[in-house]
Amino acid sequence: MRIGVFGAGGMAEALGGQWVRAGHEVMVAARDHAKAGTLAAKISARVGTWRETADFGEVILLAVSAPSVTEVLAAAGKATAGKVLADCTNAVGPGAVLTVPDQAARIATAVDDAHVVKAFNLCHVDVWRMTPPVFGGRPLAVPLCGDPAAVATVSGLVRDIGCVPLPAGGLDRARLMEATMAFMVGLWFDGHDAQACFPPLAG
Ligand SMILES: NC(=O)c1ccc[n+]([C@@H]2O[C@H](COP(=O)([O-])OP(=O)(O)OC[C@H]3O[C@@H](n4cnc5c(N)ncnc54)[C@H](OP(=O)(O)O)[C@@H]3O)[C@@H](O)[C@H]2O)c1
Repeated sequence: MRIGVFGAGGMAEALGGQWVRAGHEVMVAARDHAKAGTLAAKISARVGTWRETADFGEVILLAVSAPSVTEVLAAAGKATAGKVLADCTNAVGPGAVLTVPDQAARIATAVDDAHVVKAFNLCHVDVWRMTPPVFGGRPLAVPLCGDPAAVATVSGLVRDIGCVPLPAGGLDRARLMEATMAFMVGLWFDGHDAQACFPPLAG
C-alpha cells in the first residue's frame, strides 16, 4: 500500500518506519522539506510536498501537531479528498486538558469526502517504535474509530506492526478516545500507574 505521512517528528518516524519495514511504500511531507528529506532517507521512504504526499498516499497518517492539522490539510488541497486519514493527533494542553474537544470530527469537516480514522493516539511514541509492541506476551490492542471501510483499511496497517486492531465504532466515538488519552496522560504525569486501571476481566 502507498502511505503518505504528514509530519517528520517522532510519530512519523516510528509508524512510517514500521510500515516501510512491513513492505509498504511511504512518502513523507513536512513544513521543513529538508527535515522531511532527512526522515525519509532514514526510514527508506520518499519525500514530497503536502500535495504530492496526499496524492501519493492511499492512506495518510496525520502526525503533525494537533493545532496545525487543518492548516496542513488546506495546504494539501483537494488531494486529500476521498482518502483514508489516520489521525493520531492529540489536542492536549497543559494540565492534560483537551484544547479541541472533537479533533477527529473537526478534521473530517475540513476535507471533502473524508474517511478519518482515529488511531494510534493512546500510546507514547516509544510504544510505536517497538518491534513488535507486545506487553507480557500480549500484543498491543489499537482501538480504531471511523467508518467501517476505512477502519478495515487501517486495521491492516495495525496488524502489519504486530498489533491487534479493535474496531471501536464510528467517528462519533473518536472524541471518547481523545478524552481517554487526556485522562490517562494526566494520571501518568501525576506519577500513577494508569495501566493498573484496566485489569483483565475476572473469569
Ligand atoms: N509523542 C507521542 O508520544 C505521541 C503519541 C500519540 C500521538 N501523538 C500525536 O502525534 C502528533 C505528532 O507527535 P510527535 O510526537 O511526532 O511530535 P513531534 O515530534 O513534535 O513532531 C511534530 C510534527 O508536527 C510538525 N508541526 C508542528 N507545527 C506545525 C505547523 N504549524 N505546521 C506544520 N507542521 C507542524 C513538526 O514540524 P517541525 O519539526 O518543523 O516543528 C513535526 O513535523 C501530535 O499531534 C501528537 O499529539 C504523539
